[in-house]
Amino acid sequence: MSNNPLVRFQNVQKSYDGKILVVKDLNLDVEKGEFLTMLGPSGSGKTTCLMMLAGFEPATHGEIYLKDEPINNVPPHKRGIGMVFQNYALFPHMTVAENLAFPLEVRKMSTTERTDRVKRALDMVQLGDFGNRRPAQLSGGQQQRVAVARALVFDPDLVLMDEPLGALDKNLREQMQYEIKHIHENLGVTVVYVTHDQSEALTMSNRIAVFNDGKIQQLAAPDALYERPDNAFVAQFIGENNKLRGIVEDIDDGYCVVKTDTGAMVYSKAVNVTKRGDKSTLSLRPERVVISPEAGAVQNMFEARVLELIYLGDHIRTRISLLGREDFIVKVPNSANHAFMREGEIVTVGWLQEDCRALDA
Ligand SMILES: Nc1ncnc2c1ncn2[C@@H]1O[C@H](COP(=O)(O)OP(=O)(O)O)[C@@H](O)[C@H]1O
Ligand SMILES: [Mg+2]
Repeated sequence: MSNNPLVRFQNVQKSYDGKILVVKDLNLDVEKGEFLTMLGPSGSGKTTCLMMLAGFEPATHGEIYLKDEPINNVPPHKRGIGMVFQNYALFPHMTVAENLAFPLEVRKMSTTERTDRVKRALDMVQLGDFGNRRPAQLSGGQQQRVAVARALVFDPDLVLMDEPLGALDKNLREQMQYEIKHIHENLGVTVVYVTHDQSEALTMSNRIAVFNDGKIQQLAAPDALYERPDNAFVAQFIGENNKLRGIVEDIDDGYCVVKTDTGAMVYSKAVNVTKRGDKSTLSLRPERVVISPEAGAVQNMFEARVLELIYLGDHIRTRISLLGREDFIVKVPNSANHAFMREGEIVTVGWLQEDCRALDA
């Protein structure tokens, strides 16, 4: 917990039916100026958290603070929060400029200041020439940009975005990810963003809170989440991941030996196993597996059969049969040595114990 967060969720719980907690004891600080993403599968409680922060849903238990003030009893329009949702419709009978001026009129801003702010907000999303159009005369991507501009036009400290790019096609979505990221960097506004798309979260965020089952599974920067997942859920949700199952045979000083289903011993980092006999899922990123490692260079070395090679330009996605699994993936960089691999061939593969994480079963 930090000293001076912009937002603090403190022991927040939410139940819609009085029985099931869809948010379970949430404790989360959002720092001023950061881009924090709530990432998780559908139904994990992300939107509910955003709705409580915005003031559209009451918390069942706990308190939410904005700039050190408890806000449970503050109505939404008094919280000064900008919002963008996937289907947050623009007013169809108003022009783009009128849509943007609306939150400023509500705040009783003078006409000159309104005009000035609307212009700046439209320029920011590269729609400076579109102020007189109606929403129906814009593409989906342009409408979404107007929605972003409208959330920012009154200069809020905090903007909430719930899957704002979900309706856009892949290219436009990726372009908008960069645009929103750059707007965030330029304005220094605090953003709480919700998505179920891990690559979107990795691209845009300073920190990511991975949600599952109404709980934060891990809160960390994108690289830390990918490199050092705390548990099996996070490892499988973020990026690609090879899994081997086994039982801890020996454990000492942060490292362990795991006996896999086939009886082979794998040297690994001990992440959330604590003692001999613990069941574990070993997690290993495909790009950390080495084909034909030099003897002694890695702690783990096994024979494998090459099952399938898929040429992807910069790397060869190679599926191998290893330690009883047929779904083991290796990403072989496109360099000279891949030319020697053939489907059906037996190869040696290996990895460092440092690159292998013994997680919960
Ligand atoms: N208004 C509501 N009334 C009753 N149950 C709801 C309501 N909104 C969401 N839920 C339930 O709460 C859980 C979390 O939903 P939600 O916060 O929308 O998750 P997410 O945004 O991660 O997909 C789900 O089981 C969902 O069905
Ligand atoms: Mg949602």
